[in-house]
Amino acid sequence: MSRALATSSPTQRHPLPAGLDPARLPAHVAVIMDGNGRWASQRGLPRVMGHREGVEALKRTLRLCSDWGVGALTAYAFSTENWNRPGEEVRFLMALFERVLEREIVALEREQVRIRFLGDLEALPRGLQQLIADATARTAANTGIHFNVCTNYGGRAELVRVARRLAERVARGELDPAAIDEGCFAAELHTAGQHDPDLLIRTSGEQRISNFLLWQLAYAELHITDVLWPDFDGAALLQALLDYQNRQRRFGRVEPAA
Ligand code: IPE
Ligand code: IPE
Ligand code: MG
Repeated sequence: MSRALATSSPTQRHPLPAGLDPARLPAHVAVIMDGNGRWASQRGLPRVMGHREGVEALKRTLRLCSDWGVGALTAYAFSTENWNRPGEEVRFLMALFERVLEREIVALEREQVRIRFLGDLEALPRGLQQLIADATARTAANTGIHFNVCTNYGGRAELVRVARRLAERVARGELDPAAIDEGCFAAELHTAGQHDPDLLIRTSGEQRISNFLLWQLAYAELHITDVLWPDFDGAALLQALLDYQNRQRRFGRVEPAA
């Protein structure tokens, strides 16, 4: 039996934990879901079992973010560098993405999630591309949380793509190079029209960005936890949000921004 996004009644919501200030939640949380392989190895299982369990952690996190009032969740699912993994692991991941999308689309629709996939999607298997197009279209008019899944995503590739698109517009005589500013640059990113992440969570203790959202993370608060991604749960998310609410965001000023 498939484990749907909503394991309980669709109307049953997780209440906001005491101690979290609803007025100071991050509008956008980004997460580098790392440590699946180590989670499996610790149990004597093949690495890919960690990816399978990681899906459950992602569903949990999406549901909690949605219920607690976070406006957008962006998850790093597959980087442009992850193609360098053994073929068997890459094939497993692509098949897993297909299976999960097929299985979860109805729950995503019901729960008003707006799913989008960021990255170079044309390099993905055809069947997956089809499912992505279908899920994106079917949830586009939803009214709930924005859920971005970064798939074959690389921050550098994204920036190069922006440069190429702007150069093409200049070459066509549509854009004056002097008019290129941060606003028109950001409008060509995969995340065009969305707020930059306020909080970046990375699991498994690695203290690096790994080519994720290089432009968008300019002023994100960073929360790094030793918890391995498949173990990431409500308590770990609460800890990240409490950590975030204890930060002073100054954006270069002397006093915290209002
Ligand atoms: C993250 O977990 C998932 C993907 C990159 C697809 P890893 O597979 O990187 O797990 P570790 O870092 O090897 O433990
Ligand atoms: C980052 O994790 C990519 C994803 C979570 C999809 P990696 O495990 O690939 O990153 P590195 O190799 O440790 O930097
Ligand atoms: Mg890793």
